[in-house]
Amino acid sequence: MDQHGVAWTELKNQFFSRYATSSTLPDVFFAPGRINILGEHLDYNGGYVLPCALGLGTFLAIRRRKDKRVIMASAGYNEIFESELGHLPGKSSNYWWNYPLGVMHELHLNESDNQGVEMQFASNLPTGVGLSSSASIEVVTAFAMNKILEKALSLQELALLCRRAENDFVGVQCGIMDQYAVIFGKKDHAIFFDTKHLVHELVPVHLGDYLFLILDTNTRRQLESTAFNERYQECRAALKTMQRLLNVQEIADASPEAFEEMENWFPDESARKRARHIVFENERVKQGAAALRDGKVEELAGLMNASHESARDNYEISCFELEALIGAALASPGCLAARISGAGFGGCTLNLVNKMKADEFMQETRSRYRKATGITAMFYPVEIGSGVSMIK
Ligand code: GLA
Repeated sequence: MDQHGVAWTELKNQFFSRYATSSTLPDVFFAPGRINILGEHLDYNGGYVLPCALGLGTFLAIRRRKDKRVIMASAGYNEIFESELGHLPGKSSNYWWNYPLGVMHELHLNESDNQGVEMQFASNLPTGVGLSSSASIEVVTAFAMNKILEKALSLQELALLCRRAENDFVGVQCGIMDQYAVIFGKKDHAIFFDTKHLVHELVPVHLGDYLFLILDTNTRRQLESTAFNERYQECRAALKTMQRLLNVQEIADASPEAFEEMENWFPDESARKRARHIVFENERVKQGAAALRDGKVEELAGLMNASHESARDNYEISCFELEALIGAALASPGCLAARISGAGFGGCTLNLVNKMKADEFMQETRSRYRKATGITAMFYPVEIGSGVSMIK
């Protein structure tokens, strides 16, 4: 049994109870989720980000068929998708298969692909909490189909294709961070990723006496819900203002000094604050990658806390539950840093905690959070895993 042991056994049983037994076994693939250490909302503004792939993720067992049917089932849902090559439908509201279906549209699957496929998904990654369950299912689908349908797309092409599926089919104006991290992640490394030039450096994660813990507010978010796309539009408008005064292609191109000289020219306060977050967070990501490289954990913690303050005050992506959870964490033993990770508006936080105090930390944070909100927080230890792969 490997690190994927349990979920793979379940997946195999589900596949064979749903699809006909034959001498052709399915191929099995895995794509992780991700957690971001620094750099929220930088990836559609041309900046740097610092994510890691997780050990948790999405599994896919897939096999070609003799007819043109395309069938998708998932362990977590009752509804099954069935269609035919050449007649794949458009987006259907709120169904889980919109993500893999968007990928199939971007792969331009059609009748010339001849054979259909049967697919069974399973996941051990919590969905809709900011750990990139959407990128995980998109990437596992794209990677698997690229392989079994012999499309010969490069890993970078797959990342861009999955982003297009989410932008154009699902309708979320996300950046490239999640799909890229889910593809290029490496065990025990963070990905210092330049989202403008699509180049990255793998930085080993050594936290000494500390560890990362993910805490879940247990409030679910809807990325499609207007808030995310609203931030995207606000940034487009802020960029236009900046381009009248500075020679920049993207908000993150501006240096903090140049930005401070022009920031009073923004016609409205929220545009100024959104852009301020991007420009200064971009600096924090560069400093954070250096701190990680040099094993300076306290410096990294300071940057993470400053990052959260900016996400809350300038980018305004926090909410009552996130603030309650972060307040509870920072007041509990052993906590060096706590911040929103992912899009915000609910979901998860990333915490840097002293290993020796981890149990006490979890107990106290949970009880403070319950007192403040009436909700029970969930904890997930961070095991930094590798990117998408074929496992069987
Ligand atoms: C979501 C999006 C990403 C990124 C983050 C915020 O996860 O999918 O592209 O914008 O939010 O950093």
